[in-house]
Amino acid sequence: MTVPEQATTTPEPLLTVSGLVKHFPIKKGLLQRQTGAVQAVDGLDFDVRPGETLGVVGESGCGKSTMGRLITRLLEPTSGKIEFEGKDITHLGTAAMRPMRRDVQMIFQDPYSSLNPRHTVGAIVGAPFRLQGVTPEGGIKAEVQRLLALVGLNPEHYNRYPHEFSGGQRQRIGIARALALKPKLVVADEPVSALDVSIQAQVVNLLDDLQDELGLTYVIIAHDLSVIRHVSDRIAVMYLGKIVELADRRALYETPMHPYTTALLSAVPVPDPRRRARRERILLKGDVPSPISPPSGCRFHTRCWKATEVCKREEPPLVALATGHQVACHHPENAPGQAPGQVAGPVRSATKKTES
Ligand SMILES: Nc1ncnc2c1ncn2[C@@H]1O[C@H](COP(=O)(O)OP(=O)(O)O)[C@@H](O)[C@H]1O
Ligand code: SF4
Ligand SMILES: [Mg+2]
Repeated sequence: MTVPEQATTTPEPLLTVSGLVKHFPIKKGLLQRQTGAVQAVDGLDFDVRPGETLGVVGESGCGKSTMGRLITRLLEPTSGKIEFEGKDITHLGTAAMRPMRRDVQMIFQDPYSSLNPRHTVGAIVGAPFRLQGVTPEGGIKAEVQRLLALVGLNPEHYNRYPHEFSGGQRQRIGIARALALKPKLVVADEPVSALDVSIQAQVVNLLDDLQDELGLTYVIIAHDLSVIRHVSDRIAVMYLGKIVELADRRALYETPMHPYTTALLSAVPVPDPRRRARRERILLKGDVPSPISPPSGCRFHTRCWKATEVCKREEPPLVALATGHQVACHHPENAPGQAPGQVAGPVRSATKKTES
């Protein structure tokens, strides 16, 4: 059963992605003949609404960074369509992209390699103005100092170099740079993964505060759900180049439908001991298979405890099983009409065990 999307109240999406594909060719030999392709992103459909935070999660190698680089147009898609504010930007050239570059910014994972060590903080945060030929009111220096204060850094440190800052401070510099041109959409690729656990929350909270203050829209990528759990409005779960589940945060946490989501959730620490006792721990077997020759049918079938014959044969389409809750699975959990936790497919194997 397909439930139509919420109709009248939803505003026009800021970003709409349809059928987005990125295959990296594999070339061999002297003639550099293409012998195959890394199917990094293999048919994504989603939108991002103004003012929301869309969280994107999945294990390493699932295509999250490739997706981020596609929607910020740092990578050329193999096929599919990207629309920003209703305008098709899929194949815009450098010149035509220039105005759009201001509106869409990216924050990178590694605050060590993404900042040029030979440039001062002032030069780094001020670079977007110079690149775009924009002079802010009051001049670049004053604006950079305002940005440094905005992200919680000392404006007096304008002339310091990246190595003089801690990891968390460097990521704040990256955030200041991303915000310089007042973007509408910010794509943050694992913005805190490289940071000490003790300061991860501070940086995530900073992003959250800045969103309210500046009316930003976010796509935040993470490899597990713990980091983005509190800040995401909706969450997309990726597995091997595809979205396997997309839902409001609450629905995803309370009634996850895809077995892969259930497995990812089971790895998130639960602070409440009463709930912890009921939470089953699911151990995923093995690694993510290679995106060069992904499994047939449902790509998750080689690791799924609910897999049946049909899973190996037929790829489950991403469909809405409840309002705003899309899932790609032949035997979804928590589907409407079932009691929560009830299993639609075969009985779970012993790879699931109850935490004590
Ligand atoms: N430039 C590239 N050339 C070839 N393969 C790539 C390239 N970038 C990423 N990949 C491959 O695409 C897959 C998805 O990578 P990535 O998007 O970085 O995943 P994630 O961010 O989820 O870890 C991986 O198998 C990776 O090795
Ligand atoms: S389609 Fe089958 S293999 Fe894939 S997640 Fe659902 S139950 Fe598991
Ligand atoms: Mg990545």
